[in-house]
Amino acid sequence: MARFTLPRDIYYGPGAINELKNLKGHKKAMLLTGGSSMKKAGFLQKTEEVLKSAGMEVQLFEGIEPDPSIETVFRGAAAMREFQPDVIVAIGGGSPMDAAKAMWVFYEYPEKTFDDIKDPFTMPKLRQKAIFVAIPSTSGTASEVTAFSVITDYSTNIKYPLADFEITPDIAVLDTDIPLTMPKTLTAHTGMDALTHAIEAYVATARSDFSDPLAMKAISDIYDSLLDSYHGDVEARGKMHIAQCLAGMAFSNALLGIAHSLAHKTGAVFEIPHGCCNAILLPAVIQYNSKVCMERYAQIARAIGLPGSTDKQLVNSLVDSIKAMNKKLGIAQTYQENGVSEELFNANVDKIAENAVKDPCTGSNPRAIDVENMKKVLTCAFTGEDVTF
Ligand code: NZQ
Ligand code: MN
Repeated sequence: MARFTLPRDIYYGPGAINELKNLKGHKKAMLLTGGSSMKKAGFLQKTEEVLKSAGMEVQLFEGIEPDPSIETVFRGAAAMREFQPDVIVAIGGGSPMDAAKAMWVFYEYPEKTFDDIKDPFTMPKLRQKAIFVAIPSTSGTASEVTAFSVITDYSTNIKYPLADFEITPDIAVLDTDIPLTMPKTLTAHTGMDALTHAIEAYVATARSDFSDPLAMKAISDIYDSLLDSYHGDVEARGKMHIAQCLAGMAFSNALLGIAHSLAHKTGAVFEIPHGCCNAILLPAVIQYNSKVCMERYAQIARAIGLPGSTDKQLVNSLVDSIKAMNKKLGIAQTYQENGVSEELFNANVDKIAENAVKDPCTGSNPRAIDVENMKKVLTCAFTGEDVTF
């Protein structure tokens, strides 16, 4: 099936939260967020005020943790069943947005279990009770426009990317004032997450004429603005916020690849943030995939003005530029350099490789992969050796 789905409305720019005053005909809004960052900066209160001024009763649900758990999702769904909102508004990073999306499913379908919706594109029809509004505070996951919700099962330390266009939000609000409060490391990690989304989407098997231009524009804007954004340039922060969303529009429809399969399976085990995992994995994954899609990577390299006259040279330049970018962003080159011990790595590498092959993102990777090769790619990301097989 060929389908391309995005939220119906996207409000963007400085102060875009105010546009929620346009939400008409709703009575009750549940406003969900993470820890304290949105409250400290005043964005939570501002959103609450705008929703109230649009005539809604507002209930807060705070404290959604980074890399949200299945338990948090069920707690939130229960709170929603109690309050009966007709609008769900999530403000924060990928974690609160993702958790709120999954809560939405179990709010509308209390009889469903996590297992019932774990397989991609098996969700029931939503919007029977509420619509969904997402306000991102990081510039990375683009959960505000994607069909994904990544929930962690801490009993197995596995991250499950729930996937269905049913959970693509109705409204995304890209208020460019919000990411200004991100600390540097968060800016670096989430920015590299966005770059990984765009590059994986550009070569993914489900890519299309609709996703390609979004992915390419995102890549070129991220190359232009991520370093300046990292160093606190206000305009570059704003540009990154939009660029990560373009990347999200691309990957929500083109899907991703094995950098994400491995990031989903290493994140919880190694206790490394999602974007940082992607940043470390991306060079090795490009090397592995380039056996089958060298030309696509070369197109990217050419578009951003990297040196090389043959496709091979251009792909090497792309890999080198990502390693250099990581360095400038204070990101380690390998898992080992990031502090993962040989003991921890060896104890988990087999299981991670096995689980990564089963991750839904593996299906759209341009080059097929078995457990043995997955293990080899992961090992290269651990040691820093080039992938040559
Ligand atoms: O919890 P609070 O206090 O808000 O603090 C958060 C959290 O500690 C803080 N933060 C967020 N925005 C801030 C801020 N601090 C200061 N200023 C701001 N403007 O950052 C910390 C991390 O937040 P989190 O939401 O976990 O980060 P991120 O946005 O990187 O989201 C990561 C999650 O998204 C999933 C990841 O797997 C991970 O669980 N992903 C979701 C995707 C999707 N839905 O499509 C795709 C991605 O590939 C990714 O897998
Ligand atoms: Mn990601």
